[in-house]
Amino acid sequence: MLFDLELIKSVYKNMPARIEAARKNLAKPLTLSEKILYSHLFDNNSLQEYKRGEAYVNFAPDRVAMQDATAQMALLQFMNAGKSKVSVPSTVHCDHLIQASVGADEDLKEALLQNNEVYNFLQSVSDKYGIGFWKPGAGIIHQVVLENYAFPGGMMIGTDSHTVNAGGLGMVAIGVGGADAVDVMAGMAWELKMPKLIGVKLTGRLSGWASSKDVILKVAGILTVKGGTGAIVEYFGEGADALSCTGKATICNMGAEIGATTSIFSYDKNMSTYLRHTGREEIAELADDIMPHLRADEKVALNPEKYYDELIEINLSELEPFINGPFTPDLAHPLSGFADAVKKNNYPQKLEVGLIGSCTNSSYEDLSRAASLAKQAKDKNLKVKSEFIVTPGSEMVRYTTERDGILSEFEDIGGVIMSNACGPCIGQWKRHTDDPTRKNSIITSFNRNFAKRNDGNPNTHGFVASPELVTALAIAGDLTFNPMTDTLINEDGVEVRLDEPKGYELPPHGFDVKDAGYLAPQVDGSGIKVEVNKMSDRLQLLAPFTAWDGEDYTGLKLLIKAKGKCTTDHISMAGPWLRYRGHLDNISNNMLIGAINYFNDESNSIFNPLSGKYEEVPATARAIKAKGLASLVVGDENYGEGSSREHAAMEPRHLGIKAVLVRSFARIHETNLKKQGVLALTFANKADYDKIQEKDEIDVLGLKEFKPEKDLTLVLKHEDGSQDEIQACHTYNEAQIEWFKAGSALNLIRKQNN
Ligand code: F3S
Repeated sequence: MLFDLELIKSVYKNMPARIEAARKNLAKPLTLSEKILYSHLFDNNSLQEYKRGEAYVNFAPDRVAMQDATAQMALLQFMNAGKSKVSVPSTVHCDHLIQASVGADEDLKEALLQNNEVYNFLQSVSDKYGIGFWKPGAGIIHQVVLENYAFPGGMMIGTDSHTVNAGGLGMVAIGVGGADAVDVMAGMAWELKMPKLIGVKLTGRLSGWASSKDVILKVAGILTVKGGTGAIVEYFGEGADALSCTGKATICNMGAEIGATTSIFSYDKNMSTYLRHTGREEIAELADDIMPHLRADEKVALNPEKYYDELIEINLSELEPFINGPFTPDLAHPLSGFADAVKKNNYPQKLEVGLIGSCTNSSYEDLSRAASLAKQAKDKNLKVKSEFIVTPGSEMVRYTTERDGILSEFEDIGGVIMSNACGPCIGQWKRHTDDPTRKNSIITSFNRNFAKRNDGNPNTHGFVASPELVTALAIAGDLTFNPMTDTLINEDGVEVRLDEPKGYELPPHGFDVKDAGYLAPQVDGSGIKVEVNKMSDRLQLLAPFTAWDGEDYTGLKLLIKAKGKCTTDHISMAGPWLRYRGHLDNISNNMLIGAINYFNDESNSIFNPLSGKYEEVPATARAIKAKGLASLVVGDENYGEGSSREHAAMEPRHLGIKAVLVRSFARIHETNLKKQGVLALTFANKADYDKIQEKDEIDVLGLKEFKPEKDLTLVLKHEDGSQDEIQACHTYNEAQIEWFKAGSALNLIRKQNN
């Protein structure tokens, strides 16, 4: 048994009373999201109504999941937390670092060779600190979590934005940065702004070519990529109950594409059946016993406009399949209008590759329905026109679908089965193309289709659709093919039609697997030594950041005054830098290289006050630090928006930046800076941004009396000898000021644990 039954029992034991208390306190019926959130308060005595979209709340998630790219920094930090074991059940999943090239076996061998050092590190840290370890090839984090760990009514965080997939099993599951994971693994509270709630009422029933994927493709078209920001999307209605559990997970998974905090479905019969099919009868029985607590109150469903901040209604009986894209997942085209859209917009009509699988769509239901089309192609003597690639989401799905002849249906039409890993979904795809400069089209059943996402090629037009539709279009090799109305000519010159896809929600002969790829940690890991080679360019043990010396900051050199948009990608780029996610010093060489310098409109070219020349940002910061001096960064509005990666805060800290002063912060980045001990300040008067001059030296005064809601004073010493005094605001509370004084939140955690 991989899941922690005692933990789940205790969650279910406490839930009814906590929900009742919350219902009384709020004096209204509760949605499912509220039931789960209010029953996971870090301090149950802090029960009060938290205003949605405004109040910050401390939660106590039940578990943590990490994928191999983000786990490296999360675990390097956790090693400095002073704990001998994680406080909540946690897992690591090796899925992101495997490159898809020729096929599962060879690609996995190559990944083991290339990433051996990283895998060994993750495995030994997991072993030592009581973390479950899923080996390379075991599967993709979210599919493995759904099959083994997700449980209705639970709350989890994961260091990957598609952690939200577990909402398909009735869980509040949220993607976070590694520093947040460290807090929860160290037994600390995890803070989140109380999300708003978007209700989606599903009526009717899916049929024919329409699938769960089309529900979320339609929702993405309605809400757009930003429409879910700061909200939980809660699905309900008889249409929701009729969807398979894995179909629900697909819908929740792609909630990340509309910016939603997470998405969730109420517990129902299909979830119960899925739990039983995946070896979790005990959980199903426990959940069945408290089913009403794992669903929204009935009064909510009767009068949803009163209880959700926004309401959408979709009739599944009328739902048409969708194809979304290119370059953004919210550009939704109903299938019937897609051929016209292709012609009108000049999208490359020839379909070069169809790809199915990934964490989004590789359930038994998905693969069996897609395989029914592959079988038809073979039986009807159709030649498949596009390349066709399948990435199973887990070894259990791969093993079962191989046993049941599903994978061979794909192989019979030329399909290539890649590793149970992210592969082409995250750009880990060695695509074999004769001409990368050609405008071309691919279609996937994945979730994201931003430019360059899958193959790094800006000429590739990526579209997203259900696995069934991807398979049909790959057979036709033509983006304008509509399998609901069009026919194809087979190898005998005969006109043939593809019948509607058919499949099984769950394997008729049950799931099976020989080696799921799981390694349980040692019961007592105290004797395990985690080795990191000092010469490694991919991993580096973290030295704790130094504590505040009790003095005001004086003579800080202005490093860069960033102009306009400065996201976490501008601060710490992804792409090739993914390789250095476990090596703070090496990845710091990308610090702010994407930010635009206000004074010359160039990126990665700033005035170095020591040499008097224009030089690269990381090199300049290093030079200032090497002289025993420190620097300050100035930014514009919404500084640090984008991903929650903590590298964007750790790199400045590592390279000697004491403070970041901006017009406004993206909240997660602001918190990350605070956690890493960088002073996060905003201009009291936004116009003071204009007073910052290129060769300024800056004093930050008032740190000895650093208090919540008390501004700090900054003195800008200009090159011509003149000075400006400005006020800077901050949002530190008492606890966060202690992080600052200790040098980082982690230093404080370690102090408390010693
Ligand atoms: Fe991996 Fe793509 Fe899912 S990167 S976790 S398969 S979104």
